[in-house]
Amino acid sequence: DPDLVAAGEKTFKKCKACHQVGEGAKNKTGPMLNGIVGHAAGAVDGFKYSKPMQAAGEGGLVWTEDELAAFLAKPKAYMKGTKMSFAGLKKEDDIAAVIEYLKSFE
Ligand code: HEM
Repeated sequence: DPDLVAAGEKTFKKCKACHQVGEGAKNKTGPMLNGIVGHAAGAVDGFKYSKPMQAAGEGGLVWTEDELAAFLAKPKAYMKGTKMSFAGLKKEDDIAAVIEYLKSFE
């Protein structure tokens, strides 16, 4: 849905201080997010994760749409000790849109 992707691009402005996507995306304060939907957690090459994020990935956590939605709603409640300093997205529509946007970057 192109409208949802466009809405997600707007929502992603809240993430851009720390995350990049698209061609040439690099790790910054947060890992680059190309291909993140459906990918193992804590596994982007060259990024130094918190212990809990690394452990979650090693324990089998995969960023399905449902897991991402839960994480993005309240990162610190979803994962105690994550170093993602972001309060979360309050609106379910924004969460759905930003996930759709992320899915557009393989
Ligand atoms: C981790 C998405 C906002 C900093 C992550 C991960 C995702 C994500 C999917 C897990 C990556 C992985 O497992 O490889 C988003 C989205 C945001 C957002 C969609 C906006 C809605 C932010 C902001 C910051 C930030 C604003 C910085 C203030 C980080 C950091 C990690 C992370 C440091 C690593 C967490 C850890 O190792 O515990 N983010 N993020 N993120 N993000 Fe964000």
